[in-house]
Amino acid sequence: FTDLLASFRAKGLGVADLVWHSGAHTIGISHCNSFSERLYNFTGRSVPGDAGPSLDAEYAANLRRTNCTTRTDNTTVVEMDPGSFLTFDLSYYHGLLKYQGLFQSDAALITDEAARADVESVAKGPPEVFFQVFARSMMRMGMIEVKTGGDGEIRRHCAVVNN
Ligand SMILES: *[C@@H]1O[C@H](CO)[C@@H](O)[C@H](O)[C@H]1NC(C)=O
Ligand SMILES: *[C@@H]1O[C@H](CO)[C@@H](O)[C@H](O)[C@H]1NC(C)=O
Ligand SMILES: *[C@@H]1O[C@H](CO)[C@@H](O)[C@H](O)[C@H]1NC(C)=O
Repeated sequence: FTDLLASFRAKGLGVADLVWHSGAHTIGISHCNSFSERLYNFTGRSVPGDAGPSLDAEYAANLRRTNCTTRTDNTTVVEMDPGSFLTFDLSYYHGLLKYQGLFQSDAALITDEAARADVESVAKGPPEVFFQVFARSMMRMGMIEVKTGGDGEIRRHCAVVNN
């Protein structure tokens, strides 16, 4: 959590931004090898206050059995927000509170008191509150180190520098 927050702070963002940005994991998929360390080198379920982030043991066992059957699997995809991975909703936060955040960065959010309070508060709904705080936080991100005048370029394809 400390590392995540430090990288957000370095860009002028804060705890709430970290929590709302992570909410983007309500949609999308991941490859097993992005988190299989947590499935195959798991040191035991920790609780907030303990050293490590945590993953629900039953959920982890199910992922090992059904989805990421080997540690090196880099082809199978899993839903980041199971059952709701195409819907922008609150279930990512509900999952977090059940220790079902897929990544360490997800699990880390509930290890910090202030971040956990944000998660608990938004998880109660209504979803419109999440939509609003997410949108504002995205706008704040969009204002990081904006280039103006002749600096930089507008990309024709967002993933690559123009050639
Ligand atoms: C398992 O995790 C520990 C602690 O993060 C790490 O030091 C060790 O290298 C890992 N083992 C393997 C086989 O990756
Ligand atoms: C996936 O793993 C295989 C076997 O280890 C490796 O040859 C391949 O390059 C990997 N693919 C990616 C996209 O990392
Ligand atoms: C794991 O695989 C099962 C069977 O294909 C699938 O129904 C389930 O959605 C997968 N779980 C995740 C988290 O993607």
